[in-house]
This record gives sequence, C-alpha cells and structure tokens, in this order.
Amino acid sequence: MGAIFQSLGRTIIAGVVILVVLLLAGNTFGRMGEMAYWTFFMRWLHILAGVMWIGLLWYFNFVQTPSMPKIPDEQKPAVSKVIAPTALFWFRWSALATVVTGLLLAAMVGFLVPALMLQPGARAIGVGMWLALVMAFNVWFIIWPNQKKALGIVQVEAAEKAAAAKLAGMTSRFNTMLSIPMLYCMAAQSHGGF
Ligand code: HEM
Repeated sequence: MGAIFQSLGRTIIAGVVILVVLLLAGNTFGRMGEMAYWTFFMRWLHILAGVMWIGLLWYFNFVQTPSMPKIPDEQKPAVSKVIAPTALFWFRWSALATVVTGLLLAAMVGFLVPALMLQPGARAIGVGMWLALVMAFNVWFIIWPNQKKALGIVQVEAAEKAAAAKLAGMTSRFNTMLSIPMLYCMAAQSHGGF
C-alpha cells in the first residue's frame, strides 16, 4: 500500500483500477456500445479537467497569493521558482483540456451551436460556456505570458516585471469572480438552476 502512495503515477493508476472495479460491479461495460455512455464519459473527463483547472485557480487566489506577504524574502523563491511554475503548468493545460472536453460534450449533447448563440433551452449552458471561454482566453493570453515575466521565466526589466505580476494577479482575480456564476451555469443547465 505504501508503495502505491509514494508515487503519484501509481496513485492515479490505483484510482483508475478502483473505478474499473466499480464499472464491473455496475455491469457498465455492457453499455459501452451506446453513444449515451460516451457522452457521459466525456462529461466525466470534462469535470475532471475543470476541477483541476478551477482547483488551481482557487489555490492561487485562496492560498498562494495571500500567503506570499507572510513568507520571508529568502524563502520566496521556493514558491516563485518551484511551486508556481509547476502549478501553472497543470493550470494552463487543464484549462485547455476543460475547453476541449466541454466543446466536445456540447457537440455530443447536441447543443453546441444553440448554446454558443444563447438560444432558449441552451441559454444557461451557453452563458456558462462563454464565461469559461473568456476565462480560458485570460489564462493563455494574459495570465501565462505575464506570469512568465513575473516569475523570471522570461527576462524583463524590473518595472515591466512588476507590471506583469500585477496584471497576471488582477486577471486571476477576475477569473475567480467569473468562476462563481460560470460554475452555477454549468450545473444549472440539466439540474433546474434557472
Ligand atoms: C469553455 C469551457 C467549457 C465548456 C465549453 C463547457 C461545456 C459544458 C457542457 C456542454 C456541459 C453539459 C451541460 C449539460 O448537458 O447539462 C457542461 C457541464 C458541466 N461543466 Fe462545463 N464547460 C466549460 C468549462 C467548465 C469549467 C471550467 C468547469 C469547472 C469545473 C466546468 C464544469 C462543469 C460541470 C460541473 C458540469 C455539470 C455536469 C452535469 O451536471 O452533468 N465546465 N460543461
């Protein structure tokens, strides 16, 4: 057991094995010829990616950013050089994975175009999708390029570095604000939230 938890890779595999056992017990493999099952499977992938993305967004906003002023200067590089770049790696790629799985899911459910056009019947998920698309745009085209400057991955002058850190931080806050109505809209579409 200890050997499993000493490795993240083995831990994830163990989680998948438990899921396979549950699917066998639930006789779910028999349903894998049905399109409805794969729509559900895409929904699951989408939620996994979304939890990773928004979990890290909230980690930055609830934990890392408020803690930075309390960390002594000589210890700050542990965060800026080690933890933040790793967190940002999973953050930006899970954002992209959420968008891809979300758009595929919308297509599989059959309301990709109606949702994006905010048509009646798909308006809740449409609003949620637009909010999440704005957030994903911010991740890739504002937060990440500016974080690269702020963290010293890209070398810039001190003034530009400070401005980049501020813009990345403000955009991250903006995304945290949007995450509240976005998640409501995501869940609202099929569960009577409006
Ligand atoms: C551009 C990005 C996104 C797109 C295109 C998208 C698209 C979708 C679609 C089409 C659904 C299915 C709605 C339904 O059938 O009722 C959905 C549900 C959902 N999405 Fe997203 N989504 C995006 C971002 C996110 C993010 C960032 C999260 C964060 C966790 C998220 C979490 C969820 C959840 C929890 C559901 C509800 C599943 C359910 O109730 O069955 N989505 N999304």
